[in-house]
Amino acid sequence: MRDLIRHWLMTVLPVSRRVLLHRYPYMHSPAQLMTLLATLDEAITAVPAGAVVEVGCAAGHTTVMLARHLRDRGHRGPYLAFDTFGGFTAEDKASEAASGRPAERLTGFTKNSRQWVAWTLAQNKTVPVQLVQADAGRADYAEIPGAIAFVLLDVDVERPTAHTLRQLWRRLAPGGIILLDDCRLNADGSPALSGKFGGGHAALLDWARETGVPFDYAAGKYAIIRKT
Ligand SMILES: C[S@@+](CC[C@H](N)C(=O)[O-])C[C@H]1O[C@@H](n2cnc3c(N)ncnc32)[C@H](O)[C@@H]1O
Repeated sequence: MRDLIRHWLMTVLPVSRRVLLHRYPYMHSPAQLMTLLATLDEAITAVPAGAVVEVGCAAGHTTVMLARHLRDRGHRGPYLAFDTFGGFTAEDKASEAASGRPAERLTGFTKNSRQWVAWTLAQNKTVPVQLVQADAGRADYAEIPGAIAFVLLDVDVERPTAHTLRQLWRRLAPGGIILLDDCRLNADGSPALSGKFGGGHAALLDWARETGVPFDYAAGKYAIIRKT
């Protein structure tokens, strides 16, 4: 009987396969996670008590992994994760559309809530994570105490990426690192800016042009900005 129920659950109801069976939870490949962790380690070694900040944490999968790693490393600085917890803002969709990017595809991340991410974190062994519900295109990041060691900037769109780069670069401690997601290159090595998530990359190029700060591409989709 039990076998029959199991068989029924897995064959008749595809939804139970999705719920019961393991699925790779990250938006980063294993090789990208290695780069992410190596970069985080580099930053917290240089800035031992500095804050770790994730801007755009979605459902908190990467947050759990990074905050678990920080616990294993005995990191003493705070971890803060910012998100709207409701997906992309109307203002961002409009400004992406105005820049010619496919804003109609910015429909994800709406099935989320700050409480769900708090519960997710609570059932995993992580360092404490402060979840902040905010529009990263306006945030003054006053919640972040002291110097910043590491920023994972992952909001995909231009306006909040540009604002966050400006705000957090000056707060980043020497030795600290900002890792910006979704900075892909075309086959000819030129920046891929026209796709769904090209807005963050476009913001980086503008910011780097204005400030003269250099950065490196890594792992097929990251831009890494080190404060020397
Ligand atoms: C690609 S997901 C983040 C993925 C996450 N860092 C991870 O690795 O699993 C992008 C997130 O940015 C958030 N986001 C988009 N625009 C935002 C804004 N203006 N302010 C705050 N969060 C925003 C979305 O709600 C979404 O959760």
